[in-house]
Amino acid sequence: MFEQLKALPTDPILGLSAAFARDENPDKIDLGVGVYKTEAGDTPVLDTIKVAEARLLQTETSKSYQGMAGNMAFNQALQALIFGDLATDSRVNTLQTPGGCGALRVGAELINRARPGANIWVSSPTWANHIPLLGSAGLKFKEYPYYDAGRRALDFDAMYNCLAQVPAGDVVLLHGCCHNPCGADLSNEQWQAVASLAEQQGFTPFIDLAYQGFGDGIEQDAYGVRLLAATLPELMVASSCSKNFGLYRERTGALSVMGTNTASSGVAFGQLQNIARGIYSMPPAHGASLVQIVLEDSQLRRQWSDEVAAMRTRIKQLRQDLAAALADCGDFDFITRQRGMFSFLGLSEAQVVKLREEHSVYMVGSSRINIAGINSANLANLAGAIKAVL
Ligand SMILES: Cc1ncc(COP(=O)(O)O)c(C=O)c1O
Repeated sequence: MFEQLKALPTDPILGLSAAFARDENPDKIDLGVGVYKTEAGDTPVLDTIKVAEARLLQTETSKSYQGMAGNMAFNQALQALIFGDLATDSRVNTLQTPGGCGALRVGAELINRARPGANIWVSSPTWANHIPLLGSAGLKFKEYPYYDAGRRALDFDAMYNCLAQVPAGDVVLLHGCCHNPCGADLSNEQWQAVASLAEQQGFTPFIDLAYQGFGDGIEQDAYGVRLLAATLPELMVASSCSKNFGLYRERTGALSVMGTNTASSGVAFGQLQNIARGIYSMPPAHGASLVQIVLEDSQLRRQWSDEVAAMRTRIKQLRQDLAAALADCGDFDFITRQRGMFSFLGLSEAQVVKLREEHSVYMVGSSRINIAGINSANLANLAGAIKAVL
């Protein structure tokens, strides 16, 4: 049977990691995979997660199955983190999922059950993995303009004009904050314009919130979600604890659904559990238990918020440092205006290859860089290599 299968090309980002691992240059720089890194280049377990793990070890009494919706206390705590005051609205329900990817996939399956073959509008560009995650559920893709590579900024007019044509019943995928891959986010005023448009047109937003706390703050980064939730009858939010709790491999995330009324939201929640049952049955428990412990303990929660602030501040500082280091070879100030871990440097594919082959600097072909991969030891080399290929 398996000889019928065709070999697939290596995943571009994972292939990049493998090439980086093989590179023997001691000064190699990895700006590829999207994980947070410290000044020392590590991705450590957060201190608050270590405390929560120690507590869990003492208090956990069973490894028996949980329900398809996962840990309901985690679901409530995460719902409050995302929706703020609106979290207690009975129109909102949250299902624990295997990471943000799991949330995107079960969300897409729910849309497809409600409207088989529905259109989903994604930003141009969007995170590459959105396409298989949403497309494999049967949704049809349409694109709305988003990033203007020439101006190196969001082209909000083009986005707005396109979304103004989206009909009721279509779904629009929005990045809640820290757009991956371009780092260009909507301002609060632009979120207000999108909310009015969604109300006027009747399309349903599906918000991907994978970096809450990495942009301007834990509360600030939820502005768009909360505004849309306060304005619209329906929406969906796929959230991830991979970055802000550092739980990448623990596969911890959630899908929240807000329906027009308590009954329809309850029906959607039941459908979601049935979808989960048919794909992976139930989500893994460990990461969600840790998030629950951190969010329910006011002191731990404060410490966690400080840890997130430290990661955010470091990324912002690195943006300043990189723009300053490149100032004599062009205007790279756009890097400081963007949010989260990613920016496009605006290099050609050939320049990206040259950076890799001649300078051991690794980034994806689009010249998207993970800002957190920069540190004071590699910044000068990085800036020198970029100048050399420009
Ligand atoms: C835009 C975006 N959405 C969702 C995710 C999902 O992350 P995870 O499944 O690791 O929680 C990521 C992770 O890189 C992402 O960048």
